[in-house]
Amino acid sequence: MNAPIAHFNGKLLPLDQISISPLDRGFIFGDGVYEVIPVYAGTPLRAREHFERLQRSMDEIRLTNPHTVVEWMKLTEELLRHHPGDQAVYIQVTRGAPQKRDHVIPKGLQPTVFMMSNPMTTPSREAVENGVACVTSRDFRWEKCHVKSTSLLGNVLARQISADAGATETILFRDGHLTEASSSNVFVVKKGAVAAPPRDNLILMGITYDLVMQLAREGAVKLETRPVTEAEVRAADEIWLSSSTKEVLAVTTLDGKPVGPGKPGPIFRRMHQLYQEHKAKAAKAKVAA
Ligand code: PDD
Repeated sequence: MNAPIAHFNGKLLPLDQISISPLDRGFIFGDGVYEVIPVYAGTPLRAREHFERLQRSMDEIRLTNPHTVVEWMKLTEELLRHHPGDQAVYIQVTRGAPQKRDHVIPKGLQPTVFMMSNPMTTPSREAVENGVACVTSRDFRWEKCHVKSTSLLGNVLARQISADAGATETILFRDGHLTEASSSNVFVVKKGAVAAPPRDNLILMGITYDLVMQLAREGAVKLETRPVTEAEVRAADEIWLSSSTKEVLAVTTLDGKPVGPGKPGPIFRRMHQLYQEHKAKAAKAKVAA
């Protein structure tokens, strides 16, 4: 089988013809940032917002963006010509490959740009209808979780806790408060009202998190962003995960105990429906809505 086409430093190449220097700071230090953009029937969802977040991540790590948002959108379009249907586009930009290993950020280095696209698997009907299991852990990551950095060891180790338990995600608490999960944002529902942790340096500002906020506003679902305690999570009627590839997903067991009645709740079902409608409308309009 032919290797899929990917983008590397301005060129479209088969994936197996791309090689990266062992001195690349992405490899040596995890010195890079990334994005994952969901694509429905060839149309990226919220591409502009993803590239704006990429810009913010680069600003945070003092990396000069090699492309404008418009250029990024064009590169995505070119890559997607080789990848029809529902896809997840992955974009990574690292600091580049200097002559020697040194922690100090080198000046004038050309960043390394890599993009690939893979068929996207959204949650199964079974997962949507029955919800998924999650476990919890202390949030042992760093204090710049708002940067979508490729330094993901903390997230990898957090995710492995749930993988070992046969669960879908690890929900994280820092100092008695909910932050997020290893690769998703988290919402809780109590007595019909949705709450999510505020946008700060302790969570990634999810593009899906933002879309859920917008859909809640438009759909008259009560939602507020505020600190959420661990006790509130454990006593919630509903818990949801959100991410570009998970969309919105109900959590029906937490650390082996049922969440509410142990079934996806009515507010989840409403939000899931709003999300599916939005997605279908965006794909039909052929715009990155
Ligand atoms: N993860 N929080 C973390 C730590 C994440 O890694 C992600 C996304 C999110 C949700 O963000 P968004 O809604 O923009 O996808 C929250 C991606 C999908 C990943 O690393 O594969």
